[in-house]
Amino acid sequence: MDRSEPKYALTGATGFIGRSVVKGLIARQSRVRVMVRSKYTVQGVETVSGDLADPDALSRLAEGSDIFIHLAGLTKAASLKALLKANAEGAANAARAARKAGAKRFILVSSLVARVAELSDYARSKRAGETAAEFEKGDMEFIIVRPPAIIGPGDKATEPMIKALKRGVLPVPAGVYRKNRLSFVHVEDMARYLIELARQPNPESLIEPCGGTHSVNWDELAAIAGEARGQTVRPIPLPVFLLKSLAQLNQSLLTPFGASSFVNPGKIRELLHPDWAGRTFIPEARTLRKALEEIFTAELDDI
Ligand SMILES: NC(=O)c1ccc[n+]([C@@H]2O[C@H](COP(=O)([O-])OP(=O)(O)OC[C@H]3O[C@@H](n4cnc5c(N)ncnc54)[C@H](OP(=O)(O)O)[C@@H]3O)[C@@H](O)[C@H]2O)c1
Repeated sequence: MDRSEPKYALTGATGFIGRSVVKGLIARQSRVRVMVRSKYTVQGVETVSGDLADPDALSRLAEGSDIFIHLAGLTKAASLKALLKANAEGAANAARAARKAGAKRFILVSSLVARVAELSDYARSKRAGETAAEFEKGDMEFIIVRPPAIIGPGDKATEPMIKALKRGVLPVPAGVYRKNRLSFVHVEDMARYLIELARQPNPESLIEPCGGTHSVNWDELAAIAGEARGQTVRPIPLPVFLLKSLAQLNQSLLTPFGASSFVNPGKIRELLHPDWAGRTFIPEARTLRKALEEIFTAELDDI
């Protein structure tokens, strides 16, 4: 352990981004405590059991920490209520615990979709989380990070897209796929950025990061993926009415059972939005081509 390193408290350690953040902190020999909901043993990591709705667990997590990175959240759920509970109330609870424990800096991992809160329940819950957590900040340095799409091995959300790219096709929304812009960040670059941000002097209070490639449209994504796999990737335009109908059908079938899917009407509205480009380059982040090359060659059991 490096005693000169700040002490980190982290939520969401078991998630896609959180796993990389933990790895990065261990590699730096940082002191880190995480809050988890299930059995978790990682050497060198102190663990607190609990949930975002549990103020005592959050207090135990925050106690003695300098930096609080709040990553935990729901990316999909069957209802707005469930999203607000995790992403808004949960963020406020975390910020309150960090402030009471005397943390110096609070980093809230929101989402680029919070830019346009009215697009989806998820976007609304992430924006609400920003507002609710900021209300609790007190004297802490409070930083909101709004990541764009994060990609990397093992991610369930982007797995269908990666599988399609590996097969040489990319289903894209017809009409807008040469226009709409998106940024992508490799998960290890995102994790490194969050860790470095925790120590950066005078960071901005709202950061919308992008990777080594600023942004692409869907057509450019297919072309870059083709370069990364060494064989053409063909964009397959899907009519927007078909995407919307599928999402509606999915939602009608799943909601009565309290289940949810990434293919829902809100996600389709997000998909059709013209501008999901970040604004701040992550220093030394991988280009999109490099990120995809690494993902394509990663050993994934189920691809
Ligand atoms: N992945 C992306 O492309 C992306 C892009 C923009 C923003 N973000 C944001 O980044 C954060 C992390 O995303 P991710 O992709 O790593 O998500 P993820 O893989 O779904 O992980 C979510 C994490 O949050 C934890 N969590 C959820 N609800 C909780 C609760 N009530 N109490 C305690 N822990 C809870 C989960 O714990 P369990 O393991 O116990 O379920 C898990 O550790 C989220 O806030 C997300 O909105 C992600």
